[in-house]
Amino acid sequence: MYRDIKQAGNKPTEIVLETGMAYIPPNLKAWLITSYEDVEFVLRDPRFRKSINEAMPLFAENAPGEGNAQARSSLLYDNMANNDPPKHTALRKPVNGAFTSRAVATKRAGVRALAEETLDAVAHQESFDLVKDFAFPFSIAVICSTLGVPEGDRGTFDSWVQTITSDAAPDVLKRDAGLMVAYLSDLIARKRAGDDDDVLSLLARALDGPEAVAQAYALLAAGYETTANLIVTGFLTLEAHPEEREKLWADRSLVPGAVEEMLRHQSPFNLSLYRYVTETVQVNGVELPAGSIVFLAFAAANRDDGHFERPDDFTVNRSRREHLAFGGGIHNCIGKHLARLEAEEAFDVLIKRCPDLVSLTPAEEREWKASPTFRGLKSLVVGTGPSPRRPETGAVR
Ligand code: HEM
Repeated sequence: MYRDIKQAGNKPTEIVLETGMAYIPPNLKAWLITSYEDVEFVLRDPRFRKSINEAMPLFAENAPGEGNAQARSSLLYDNMANNDPPKHTALRKPVNGAFTSRAVATKRAGVRALAEETLDAVAHQESFDLVKDFAFPFSIAVICSTLGVPEGDRGTFDSWVQTITSDAAPDVLKRDAGLMVAYLSDLIARKRAGDDDDVLSLLARALDGPEAVAQAYALLAAGYETTANLIVTGFLTLEAHPEEREKLWADRSLVPGAVEEMLRHQSPFNLSLYRYVTETVQVNGVELPAGSIVFLAFAAANRDDGHFERPDDFTVNRSRREHLAFGGGIHNCIGKHLARLEAEEAFDVLIKRCPDLVSLTPAEEREWKASPTFRGLKSLVVGTGPSPRRPETGAVR
């Protein structure tokens, strides 16, 4: 994914981000922040900016020879994740209320029913794909029902988001981004006229058309793949730690704590979105010159032994210290309560209904998706049949 051009221990390091994605051109020169303390510092310091219109020329400057940053721009990306206050505040405010812990708690029964229904379709089979048959359809169903995307459109939607968040060629990205804009614009226009209380309707009533479309895209793009990946890598991590799995299987009240530990240990959003500086800033004694692009390695910070005791161990009832799997500062994940609830219900249902489930895809055949930010498998066959090889301890990176 990236190549170090200057290794500096746990201090900011210069890298080349080889894999491009959406608005990020390939071979982008940037700084990588890895220690817990430095990541927290950057998250809370307003000199690290995110406005996409200012960032675009910096992408072109820092990816010499690529020159395609503009081809990758789209109104979809002008969303809350890529803006600073006051625009960030104005874009996030209309939907904040829908994602508070209290608002999300009211959805528990509905989310549970979606987990049960998704499993109903495959649980009778000898084997199924935990990625394609459970984790993805379940989390797509949750986010689409929260937003108010009609059930019949979910499959098409998924294929667009998959392209847009992948390292596909710029013309393919542009085509699918265009299709997504057209679809969302039409849906939001219809919502504006109605009186539904779903999230797209809130956006349609509070923002103008293009702004509402970009926020809808942000919620969808950030909102289901991460959660699906958490369920799958969490499952594998438990399998790699049989004693922890046994504890959880014996006492499902440990599920919320186990999900928190999966978030820390596996960091499904392993690398942040971009930030940049318009003035020279010192981080942990290292000078980041004006015009630098910066990424935060949440996965590394969550395994920092300066902050967590024995960070590589996976312990479902670890005594808590705050992890950074949901970021922090003003851009902290708006969907964190929903993501937790989904993972809790998914594991509770899996443990109760399929207690003997094991992975059948051998470790050496597991294929990871090519994304610099999201960490997830393309497929994982699971079943109650004998595993071809016992999962080796620590097999999950
Ligand atoms: C396990 C699941 C999830 C993880 C690990 C995760 C992680 C993150 C992280 C690390 C960020 C901050 C990125 C940065 O600062 O560069 C973020 C932001 C965001 N997430 Fe999540 N997320 C998850 C689920 C969700 C869900 C379910 C939704 C939608 C309902 C969502 C919507 C967003 C949005 C819109 C932002 C941008 C917020 C802003 O900039 O103000 N995420 N997420």
